[in-house]
Amino acid sequence: MSKFSRKSLIVASLAAVVTIPAAAHIERTEPLQSLRQSFFAIVGMTFGPMGDMVKGEIEWNDEQFAAWADDLASVSKVSVERGFAPGSDKGKTRAKPAIWENSDDFAQKLANFRSEAAALAVAASSGDKAAKIEQFKQTGGTCKACHDNYKSRGYLY
Ligand code: HEC
Repeated sequence: MSKFSRKSLIVASLAAVVTIPAAAHIERTEPLQSLRQSFFAIVGMTFGPMGDMVKGEIEWNDEQFAAWADDLASVSKVSVERGFAPGSDKGKTRAKPAIWENSDDFAQKLANFRSEAAALAVAASSGDKAAKIEQFKQTGGTCKACHDNYKSRGYLY
């Protein structure tokens, strides 16, 4: 291999290294609506089956209930706030414009959800089934409190 072609090879591989991180900037190319909807999809798909257990629609299982509660508490900590950045009120979404007009209240409702979800994970690891069910209901109240004001049933746009 000549000196020249080895140098071109190095330049070519450097170019490849440089383009990979640029292509990996997913959060700049994926819509923010996708970030928040993915967050709430995981929230719903852990909390939903816990509700099926509470209602007796599926068999009660302490370990599974605790595992879902752990997932819910963990995912609740993800900083979904950046998915509600100014200007992201448009697009395919069920997020009502009221969110951006009442951002302090929205942040408070998110904080309430996070603290009840954390308490649910603690209750779920206890041996007290009544306490688990009570804390499940408390947590569900924080979903409703936010959805009542800030989430529409159908897509807005
Ligand atoms: C602080 C406000 C807030 C809290 C708390 C909250 N949600 Fe939501 N949720 C929203 C908003 C806003 C959307 C609509 C997002 C969009 O379409 O861009 C949403 C969307 C959803 C969706 C649809 C996700 C999708 O695939 O598009 C589900 C399911 C859901 N929430 C379940 C829950 C459950 C269950 C809880 C409680 C355990 C909860 N949410 C707590 C605000 C909240």
